[in-house]
Amino acid sequence: MAVSLAQTTLFSKTSYFLRGNALKCFTFSVPFSSSSASVLRTGKKARQPIVSVLELGGVKIAKDDVVRDDPTNNVPDTIFSKLGMQLHRRNQHPIGILKNAIYEYFDTNYSNKFDKFDDLCPIVSVQQNFDDVLVPADHVSRSYNDTYYIDPQIVLRCHTSAHQAELLRRGHTHFLVTGDVYRRDSIDSTHYPVFHQMEGVRVFSPDEWEASGMDATSYAAEDLKKCLEGLARHLFGAVEMRWIDTYFPFTNPSYELEIYFKEKWLEVLGCGVTEQDILRKNGKLNNVAWAFGLGLERLAMVLFDIPDIRLFWSSDERFTSQFSKGQLGVKFKPFSKYPPCYKDMSFWINESFTENNLCEIVRGVAGDLVEEVVLIDNFTNKKGMTSHCYRIAYRSMERSLTDEEINDLQWNVREQVQSKLKVVLR
Ligand code: DAH
Repeated sequence: MAVSLAQTTLFSKTSYFLRGNALKCFTFSVPFSSSSASVLRTGKKARQPIVSVLELGGVKIAKDDVVRDDPTNNVPDTIFSKLGMQLHRRNQHPIGILKNAIYEYFDTNYSNKFDKFDDLCPIVSVQQNFDDVLVPADHVSRSYNDTYYIDPQIVLRCHTSAHQAELLRRGHTHFLVTGDVYRRDSIDSTHYPVFHQMEGVRVFSPDEWEASGMDATSYAAEDLKKCLEGLARHLFGAVEMRWIDTYFPFTNPSYELEIYFKEKWLEVLGCGVTEQDILRKNGKLNNVAWAFGLGLERLAMVLFDIPDIRLFWSSDERFTSQFSKGQLGVKFKPFSKYPPCYKDMSFWINESFTENNLCEIVRGVAGDLVEEVVLIDNFTNKKGMTSHCYRIAYRSMERSLTDEEINDLQWNVREQVQSKLKVVLR
């Protein structure tokens, strides 16, 4: 098994099935200036105020369009505040530097044939996010526990594969899509509810595989592997690699590429030969194609030695000033590590309790001051009641936290866990 690092591919987990239109596209402005101003004024970092309307190119999107107090909506303010940040479009940011390095590989090796998209709207329909890429109706990724729903038909994309179908329909045959993606998840140093992915697709026409004497699928699979091995070498140098057979709803056969890096097998990406159904439904009747998807944080953490995924969102100069345009793989030098503070919390859970819901509350209260939420004890008593004890690690990457502010956070978490999750604190 490869090490699990920074948001592993959700769609490859076959076992995770559910227990239980044309969309107006908005573009966004970049609401990230306020926090640095407040640091300058107070010397302390204040929580970022939430911008209530985003605007770019004259199109406005109001917070009320995305966050609503309605059971069909599970998007919190903290997530709304990330829309439009577009870390992947900042040339001096590790995510942007990595994106550019991958673009460079494709531009050089395919003479600029790949069309690049990096500002497609992250608000997509359920159809685009799931149906268009053949995600089964009962797949766990469709649940409210895993995906952010704006309403029953509209979600924040949970992968860049959401754009495959529309781009094929628009006639593109070679393309790369980079964007922010959103997933409800647990909290630790490699998981964050917003991260960045890149999707690649290449479509072949019959003359290409016919000339090779191979069948279409083998031809595409071989080309795919050659292309991605080259990409891995471009990013990581001469590393050992291996291919693992896996499952994705959108490809068949499907593979994961792993590299041996720093004495561990690391999963780099998921990929495969595109399901014929996706091609046929989108105007590619006589073709074969390959596709891949990779998580940029996962690779950037390894390439730049970034120890905590929250750092990507930091506007602290001690982080941002360490990276420059075009400099892939500069090693991040941690500024002094501030001490963590642990708080335990035990409660009797109920049937609807999920860890993702708990983590959403903790993030809502503590924001990026929470480093990890871990289940440390779990038992069921004779009456059949189940108790969970979670340990919450609070740690700022930028300063020491005071006892008083941590106690305030913890009281707030306890109160909300009780009132929103309807669990009984012990
Ligand atoms: N969408 C997948 C995920 O987020 C990643 C992926 C795997 C994309 C295989 C692809 C693919 O295009 O062929 O887990």
